[in-house]
Amino acid sequence: MDRFEALLGLTPIKPITIDIQGEPRTIQLKLEGYNISGSIKARTAYGLVRGLVQDGRIRPGMRLLESTSGNLGVALAGMARYLNIGFTAILDPMSTVEVRSRLTDLGAHIVMVDKVDEAGGYLLSRLAKVQEMLEADDSYVWVDQYNSPKNPEIHRRMTGPEILDQLATPPDALFAAVSTGGTFAGISQCFRDRGVATRMVAVDVDGSVAYGGEPGRRYLSGIGASRPSSFLKESLIDHYAYVDVGEAAYYCRTVLATTGVHLGASSGAVVAACARYLRENPDVRDALCICADGGEKYESTIYSDEWLEAIGTTLRPTGVTG
Ligand SMILES: Cc1ncc(COP(=O)(O)O)c(C=O)c1O
Repeated sequence: MDRFEALLGLTPIKPITIDIQGEPRTIQLKLEGYNISGSIKARTAYGLVRGLVQDGRIRPGMRLLESTSGNLGVALAGMARYLNIGFTAILDPMSTVEVRSRLTDLGAHIVMVDKVDEAGGYLLSRLAKVQEMLEADDSYVWVDQYNSPKNPEIHRRMTGPEILDQLATPPDALFAAVSTGGTFAGISQCFRDRGVATRMVAVDVDGSVAYGGEPGRRYLSGIGASRPSSFLKESLIDHYAYVDVGEAAYYCRTVLATTGVHLGASSGAVVAACARYLRENPDVRDALCICADGGEKYESTIYSDEWLEAIGTTLRPTGVTG
């Protein structure tokens, strides 16, 4: 397993220029799309599966089972191939066609749920399907990204230290998207452990209840949740930002047009939250955005005008320049 770890991380940090109230500002993007499975979830999948192997829970004939919005599924499909075991991914209609085709190419078995849950997403429906399958067949091992302490732990042990090693000085503020909350919680814990004064900003979407609030219909995959995160503790969060689809789409499109960097949907949300925070906090000079994946899987959603129109949203501009 540890040989796999050498293949992970060391993703680049790229500065881009963004216009904040007429002033060009540099923000740093940590481009997690450069991970082996194309997203930050390569790290999460490794941490989770390594934990299962260490606990002796992976035996011949076992199959990994997980509810996923896509990225964790793609990463787990790679891990399952490495371990020569099966993998079943429980997906919903918010996962993109691009992700589904990757999973199929990697040999994963896909089970779709299509019932919108009472919180406006599909997570609760996906989890109900996981329980049903675990009860029906004991060859399944649930990876459980939602509760396993190995999820935040890998980001505390690997992602956080990597960021601090890459930068000459820690940023004034760090922005990361939340779904399970594992990435944010792990990085924040690492920064807190080391006594770093960086302001930690969690980025969520309207309608998510990952950190409380009222549930509502959500359209983006990878960010937001239908139930509270088990990892997001108040002590780890300096500011909690909500972004809507129109803002996320605007920043995805504008960053691509002005800098050539192709961001995934949650990264567009993170950059939108960062731009707003910089506007409201002029004392913050250096900002780092964790960009969980690249834009290539989102051509049919956040980069599609037809899709935006279908969900009744328009681009919400705020100035960004190259
Ligand atoms: C694109 C993207 N961004 C952000 C996240 C959030 O990560 P976490 O579950 O660690 O909160 C995910 C998780 O699936 C993701 O796929």
